[in-house]
Amino acid sequence: MQEANLLNNYMLPSKESKPAKSRPGRRGFILSLGWALLGLAFAGMTWMSGRFLAGSQPRSDPEPVNFGPPDGHPIGSMTRGGRVVLLRDDAGFWAVTTVCPHLGCQPVFAENRRIFVCPCHGSHFDQEGRLLAGPAASGLSLAGLRLDAQGSLVAHPQEPARAGDRFKP
Ligand code: FES
Repeated sequence: MQEANLLNNYMLPSKESKPAKSRPGRRGFILSLGWALLGLAFAGMTWMSGRFLAGSQPRSDPEPVNFGPPDGHPIGSMTRGGRVVLLRDDAGFWAVTTVCPHLGCQPVFAENRRIFVCPCHGSHFDQEGRLLAGPAASGLSLAGLRLDAQGSLVAHPQEPARAGDRFKP
């Protein structure tokens, strides 16, 4: 019996005597790949969040816009020019600057509802730029209106006007 045990011990190599297999290959690769994918996903989400918060329009000061002779704009009309919308009712003209105070996107005038709607995050403004719904925290600016030397109606976004004021040429 003792001889058999000695023989077994001699013939069978012990587990401790096995050379350690170093297999960093497959497991390490899968782990690295997982971390890389996680990093890519995080970077993508960060980029998308930045795009959402920044809006899709660059922030820039709108330029003056020449709308031509006042007679070309009948009562009830709406005319787009650059980042300004010229409107007219029976009391006169006013011009709304279409730069959203939230993050600078360009609200569009929905003629059927006569309101401005920002395509980026859904703020709503009435036809004189007053805030109806956020996330914007304030209304759209109104641009000052003047006639130039040729008698054309020019909107000046850098010269703010007040809601309710009308320009009568
Ligand atoms: S940019 Fe966000 S609501 Fe207009």
